[in-house]
Amino acid sequence: MTRVFNFSAGPATLPLSVLQQVQSELLDWHGSGMSVMEMSHRDKDFMSIAAEAEKDLRELLGVPANYKVLFMQGGAMGQFSAVPMNLLRGKSGADYVVTGSWGAKAVKEIARYGKGSVAAKPANGKFTHIPERSSWKLDPDAAYVHYTPNETIEGVEFAWVPDVGAVPLVADFSSTFLSRPLEVSKFGLIYAGAQKNAGPAGITMVIVRDDLLGQALPATPSVFDYMQVSDNESMLNTPSCFAWYVCGLVFKWLKSEGGLTAMGELNQRKAALLYEAIDSQPFYHNPVARQDRSWMNVVFTLADPALDADFLKGAVKAGLPGLKGHRSVGGMRASIYNAMPEAGVLTLVDYMKEFARTRA
Ligand SMILES: Cc1ncc(COP(=O)(O)O)c(C=O)c1O
Repeated sequence: MTRVFNFSAGPATLPLSVLQQVQSELLDWHGSGMSVMEMSHRDKDFMSIAAEAEKDLRELLGVPANYKVLFMQGGAMGQFSAVPMNLLRGKSGADYVVTGSWGAKAVKEIARYGKGSVAAKPANGKFTHIPERSSWKLDPDAAYVHYTPNETIEGVEFAWVPDVGAVPLVADFSSTFLSRPLEVSKFGLIYAGAQKNAGPAGITMVIVRDDLLGQALPATPSVFDYMQVSDNESMLNTPSCFAWYVCGLVFKWLKSEGGLTAMGELNQRKAALLYEAIDSQPFYHNPVARQDRSWMNVVFTLADPALDADFLKGAVKAGLPGLKGHRSVGGMRASIYNAMPEAGVLTLVDYMKEFARTRA
């Protein structure tokens, strides 16, 4: 078996020990004589897996008791609709802070249900920095303020949680979920697709303050109505059982690694190694303002784009796949989520140095 260092933006690399545990439990979970894939979601075995995953997630993030934790389907993009359907609560619209491609998609989606106002976006039209908080035009009567703490495509990340006063703050944490400690009480709602930092594709975590529930638009599908999902412990219909189980194992792995404080320190170190490699060689370039650079998705370009294909080909040969930048921006992107070991980043840094030395 040869494992590579997989830099894909998502679905993404998972901790090896988690995959090995999945493998060892695949045919017979804990003496049940069956795979988790084959269990009824109403079975007490699966109920225990589900409850344990929620307990561990609550512990990792320190989720206060007045927040519900939901395990939903439909991906983060499903939440682009679910959020307005549930949280408009009789108001005409919400504010969106747009710092990259995903935030831009989110504000488009609300148009089906209400008015999405762009409260802030970079004045130069380039998603390479976060507009200063003092320049945001927030409406105190907005239903909520939505932002994207980490823009996966452009590699722009908030190192701070915005203060938006009494209006509920909603955040799409998909690509930076569980990457560092978080004060959940500052948010009205957090959501994240699992397939980057939490597990396999097919499940989406939603953490929502309970006073925001119960006012969904009448046309809201039941499976997207947070109140109904919560009342049924995320089992209103068949959940994404296997993905839920694997996420639970990832949560246990995070706890065993020292929790989110330790993970944050490791992620900061990994990102610093990579940015140092980029900044110290004129052959590479990262366009993002230093204070807004992502710890999770590190984007960079080569001095000569004609070398991109060779760079990528050589990287795959060296056991470093998944480095191609998103098709909308080009260049390279190294996604270095929690499960990417420091050794993977060091190997990439060596590869970059050698490529620049021989090809620049
Ligand atoms: C920040 C962010 N939001 C939303 C999405 C869409 O997620 P999904 O494919 O789970 O709908 C992604 C996917 O890459 C993302 O990175």
